[in-house]
Amino acid sequence: MKIQILGTATTKFGELWGVSPRTMAREAIQNAVVASGLKPSDIDAIFVGNMLSGILGNQANLGSLVTEELGEFKPSLRVEGACASGGLALNTAINSLLSGQYKTVLIVGLEKMTDHNSDDVTAGLMAAGSDEERIAGATFPGLYALMARAYMQKYGITEELLASVSVKNHYHGTFNPKAQFQMAITVTDVMRSSKVADPLKLLDCSPISDGAAAVVITSEPSKKFAKKPVYITASEVATDTLSFYERSSFTSLAAVVNASAKAYKKAGVTSEDIDVAEIHDCFSIAEVVATEDLGFSKRGKAAKDIAEEKFTLGKGKLITNPSGGLKSCGHPVGATGIKQIVEITEQLRGEAGKRQVPNARVGLTHNVGGTGTVAAIHILQTKL
Ligand code: COA
Repeated sequence: MKIQILGTATTKFGELWGVSPRTMAREAIQNAVVASGLKPSDIDAIFVGNMLSGILGNQANLGSLVTEELGEFKPSLRVEGACASGGLALNTAINSLLSGQYKTVLIVGLEKMTDHNSDDVTAGLMAAGSDEERIAGATFPGLYALMARAYMQKYGITEELLASVSVKNHYHGTFNPKAQFQMAITVTDVMRSSKVADPLKLLDCSPISDGAAAVVITSEPSKKFAKKPVYITASEVATDTLSFYERSSFTSLAAVVNASAKAYKKAGVTSEDIDVAEIHDCFSIAEVVATEDLGFSKRGKAAKDIAEEKFTLGKGKLITNPSGGLKSCGHPVGATGIKQIVEITEQLRGEAGKRQVPNARVGLTHNVGGTGTVAAIHILQTKL
């Protein structure tokens, strides 16, 4: 069965003070449906990726909320998997097409974080951690800082090399009008930014963000997108222990290794075939580890490869995070996995403007929840 992406849309990401979750959802949904060339009544079902709405906003019933905004009462449900909620919602939607239950579905990723104070957001995000981690007072910046320490010690990597991830992603973000931060930064800026969880500094961290993204996908061959077709050729999910301390490795995420191995096999490609990838850089160390787990760099070499601009627009062959990634584009957690799909679709259609990766034909999205407790990998191609 061929699964094709039709319409896509995102809101701007950032501190959207005057915009409610409902308004963000409406904008993303309506623009994605219009872009797909379909009517709302053509949508068979809706899948919503969201993590924090129930915890921070006391609104957990997003399936019903979103179907109201479509203007059609369709089967509609929320999927939660921490920061991978968007990727998991897409995987669930794809499985509903593969089962034959539905033919054309809408997937929405949605998160409103900035109306709440940082302490509440940090505590809310820890709902994705284990009881032991919460009792110990761990936060996600703290857990990723442990990963950074383990990696730096194992491979002799400096904080300056880690900083090159944020430098690259902020550079790419300067070309993205939807990004939260659209300014370039230097390694010195990162090094001088305030410490959050040593060795991670403010500019090593993705921000707290609002945003929504939506895509319409179909298994019906007759529903053709007018422009260049983009197919989802693999959608794989893998899981690992909830606690970071229980992992066999602190410098590689098994969920990513397993999900990406299955995805490459399913799509019939290797890491060398990927032209463009959106990587879940919630912290600079996360992109370094992912670059190795996905097979784009040798073990211990990713930070150096990134610093040598091997994955930078206009320099490298395989470009990572052309959207600016989570660091520069922003990280409204439930929306991120869908925004990654929107970005790769635009890249494969040649519609990415100043951040276009030339001749991109095969793209990958890497969406991770917690410290790698769950990973969703999607591969998108212009040809089957
Ligand atoms: N990158 C760049 N600038 C940032 C930033 C980031 N990650 N986070 C905040 N800022 C900026 C703000 O825009 C603000 O700038 P201004 O003074 O010019 O308006 C300034 O820094 C202070 O912002 P504030 O909201 O007070 O920051 P904070 O100290 O409350 O929060 C972090 C900073 C890094 C702690 C917070 O963004 C965070 O927790 N990030 C990680 C989120 C996370 O864990 N996500 C899940 C991943 S698994």
